[in-house]
Amino acid sequence: MCGIVGYIGKKEAYPILMGGLSRLEYRGYDSAGVALGGRKDIRLYKRQGKVADLASFAEGKDISGTIGIGHTRWATHGEPSDRNSHPHLSQCGTVAVVHNGIIENYRELREDLGRHGYRFVSDTDTEAVAHLIEHICERTGTTFPEAVRLALREVVGAYAIVAISTGDPDTVVVARKGSPLVVGIGDGEFFIASDATAVAEHTRRVVYLEEGEMAVLRRNEEFYVSSINGHDERYPIVMEIEAELEAIGKNGFAHFMEKEIFEQPETILDSMRGRLDPETGEVRLNGIADHIDRLAEAERIIFVACGTSFYAAILGEYLIERYAGIPVEVDYASEFRYRRPLIRKKDFVFAVSQSGETADTLAAIRLAKEAGATVLGICNVVGSSIARETAAGIYTHAGPEIGVASTKAFTAQVTVLSLITLALAKRRKMLSDEELIRLGKELFAIPEKVKRALTKQNECREIAVEISRSSDAFYLGRGVCYPVALEGALKLKEISYVHAEAYPAGEMKHGPIALIEDGTPVIAVAPDGEIRDKIVGSIQEMKARKARVIAIVTEGDMATAALADRFVEVPVADEFVVALLAVIPLQLIAYYTAVTLGHDVDRPRNLAKSVTVE
Ligand code: AGP
Repeated sequence: MCGIVGYIGKKEAYPILMGGLSRLEYRGYDSAGVALGGRKDIRLYKRQGKVADLASFAEGKDISGTIGIGHTRWATHGEPSDRNSHPHLSQCGTVAVVHNGIIENYRELREDLGRHGYRFVSDTDTEAVAHLIEHICERTGTTFPEAVRLALREVVGAYAIVAISTGDPDTVVVARKGSPLVVGIGDGEFFIASDATAVAEHTRRVVYLEEGEMAVLRRNEEFYVSSINGHDERYPIVMEIEAELEAIGKNGFAHFMEKEIFEQPETILDSMRGRLDPETGEVRLNGIADHIDRLAEAERIIFVACGTSFYAAILGEYLIERYAGIPVEVDYASEFRYRRPLIRKKDFVFAVSQSGETADTLAAIRLAKEAGATVLGICNVVGSSIARETAAGIYTHAGPEIGVASTKAFTAQVTVLSLITLALAKRRKMLSDEELIRLGKELFAIPEKVKRALTKQNECREIAVEISRSSDAFYLGRGVCYPVALEGALKLKEISYVHAEAYPAGEMKHGPIALIEDGTPVIAVAPDGEIRDKIVGSIQEMKARKARVIAIVTEGDMATAALADRFVEVPVADEFVVALLAVIPLQLIAYYTAVTLGHDVDRPRNLAKSVTVE
């Protein structure tokens, strides 16, 4: 998720662009850049690092001009570096583009443009769009706005694009498909941004582009909105920004964590984008393409991770062993690095890490590399240390996770692990083509089902009020819902400071049940599946000790719901993917408990977003 800004009007563009980038820096912060338009040339200043680093770099340079675009980057394709920073220039320097999103067919676009003599200076997907717009202008002689429209018709994926050109120096073209874009309306001037944070200080009048729409902005002129695929024009609907700047950065949510919980339908889709064909069940994991065949023959896969990522890895273990038939071990990275594990050259070691900077996980992969194992990564931050130190890997594309307590990164990790499972199951012929297609469709249907799971806010709020009055809580799960219970308990601990423990439901009778007293809250993760009947027995054991049972059940399973004191329903889903749904109410319960207790949800005590020290 990157930050985009643009300006066209009568003021100097540079200070407006830089102010907007500073406001958007929370969205993406591995590099920043601006392009200042004009009749002769486009002046481009961009650097890896913070907006402040860009300002230092641009000091003393020609930053004049009343039209420009800017960008803070959250890398998805191409490591953070000066050359991968946005804006990107076309080959002849006639077009500059900034982009937020993921272009799925960028490889094909690069190959086609390469055949037309275009040379690429970056590893990004975005650069292809700049060249393509220039190529269409030259090939067809059409106008700059039409060239942008035609170029975007060749693009597959998600984007918010802002483009300027020397050929039409008094025009900014904006387009949106899958990533938000807002146009602020001033007095004969326009302020463009990926969200209203960067616009609100200049104007409260904004137009939000709708999906598949574009607009052509010129000084002192009204603008129309049109669809990229057609030519139907409409008058823009002007809205008034109501919220305060701080709230706008959270898109109106009270905390980044809440925003990130509710972003999950989009981020889960982004983690699948371009990787799963639901019609054929085909999974394409370019990041590990050179290793997937050997991985399918592995005698053992070892996951190393910490915290939430460790629980995602346990889920990966359950899925890969059950559906792909490869032995898997999961180790706390902090233990793995010191317990002198037996690592063989033929082992595959996977590091799972949102930040890609966790010291224990980094140490664990270095140990595995020394032992000669093949080390792969599943990270959310492109170009992070773990991403760079592993032989290959898969990015989760969840966008920056600002809340210290991980939510969207967890579901993105589980989604990627599910894709890996399908890819391995296919290669090992563990599943029929029909089964692969069925499970692929189940996974593809998850974003919409997560949206439905997110509607249970009121039930979760009421449960949270109860839990906020408790000093302890227990989470029970079986099978794939055991790591879900672990993750739910961690979420509660981290942000509400209520003590919580998770157990495999069958384990309670081996000791922990001694802790159950009258009214002790017990959250039982009990969606439909092979193990639901077994966990029902555990619920009855808890009820016999007067626990207050909260059950996470499949929609319509009133038999299980009736055994509990409270319940939250999640949509029907196959056991292969149900964990992605069952975790949603647990995230909400933890969040609302922390809010009820008045804690700093985004910055909980004692915690850091990335534990880069031992
Ligand atoms: C999860 O909510 C916590 N922030 C923490 O447990 C985190 O998952 C752990 O520190 C691992 O971080 P990583 O995924 O960035 O490696």
